[in-house]
Amino acid sequence: MAKNILNGKKGLIFGALNEESIAWQIAKKCHEEGATFVLTNKPSSIRLGKLSELAETTNSKIIPAEITEPDDLRRLITETLNHSGGRIDFVLHSVGMSRNIRKNTPYDSISYEYLTETLDVSAISLHKLVQTLISLDALNEYASIIAMTYVASQRTFHGYTDMAEAKALLESITRNFGVYLGDHKKVRINAISQSPTPSAAGSGINNFSDFYTYAELMSPLGNATAAECADFCAMMFSDYTRKVTMQTLYHDGGFSSVGLSEHIAKLLPRQDETSI
Ligand SMILES: NC(=O)c1ccc[n+]([C@@H]2O[C@H](COP(=O)([O-])OP(=O)(O)OC[C@H]3O[C@@H](n4cnc5c(N)ncnc54)[C@H](O)[C@@H]3O)[C@@H](O)[C@H]2O)c1
Repeated sequence: MAKNILNGKKGLIFGALNEESIAWQIAKKCHEEGATFVLTNKPSSIRLGKLSELAETTNSKIIPAEITEPDDLRRLITETLNHSGGRIDFVLHSVGMSRNIRKNTPYDSISYEYLTETLDVSAISLHKLVQTLISLDALNEYASIIAMTYVASQRTFHGYTDMAEAKALLESITRNFGVYLGDHKKVRINAISQSPTPSAAGSGINNFSDFYTYAELMSPLGNATAAECADFCAMMFSDYTRKVTMQTLYHDGGFSSVGLSEHIAKLLPRQDETSI
């Protein structure tokens, strides 16, 4: 049920590949709530994915860009400003990729070449993006930037390997740029830590079903879906959250605050209390 909370807002959305993408659901929701935006992804994902379908249904322009390339970012943002007729109000960074995860390489034997790429694509790209937005004076006052993250930045999760490093760095960039953005530009930036979600990136994790099922059994409210994440993001892009910045906000059904849930406890092997 749309409330038009983004009426008149203009934005830029990274990371929609197909209907399973978190960014896809966020774009749909932003459109329902009255926003207009440019959609972007790397050229190979645009060729292989379904971005043109989303562009059609949301009446959006697609501008391809490789997020790790500062020249591409500069061109993308310049074209976005021209298309939008001025500064923008929200930016979504929903980008992540690890070849170490794709190749199912255990943590103790990851490739450092791939680690460098993981950090560049999944975290340093946020720094490059924000730096370019600032240098082109692309953001309106109280604009809102969101980066998608995962709780493995704080606690270890078997199988998440070098993406854990990327998410820790991403959240750190969010905090550190938050000071500058707030002081100088009156702009907010937050990371949203989402439940395991069956998308291309999510399902690329070899033991993704462990992540998903464990979180479902640990979370009092159950796993948050991509569509529910979209509702949350719409609020975070809206004027209702103008003073929320530099946070990692957990959108995870309560998972991050639970140590041991009843559902998990019931699955544990029973032991004779006296033997412990
Ligand atoms: N799926 C989950 O379980 C989950 C949970 C928490 C956080 N996240 C995060 O949400 C974000 C979106 O992931 P998703 O689950 O929607 O998967 P997804 O695969 O649909 O989205 C990842 C996007 O990153 C884009 N991308 C990769 N490399 C790029 C590059 N070099 N330049 C530009 N774009 C590039 C891909 O094309 C894709 O659109 C990621 O940051 C991911 O880590 C996902």
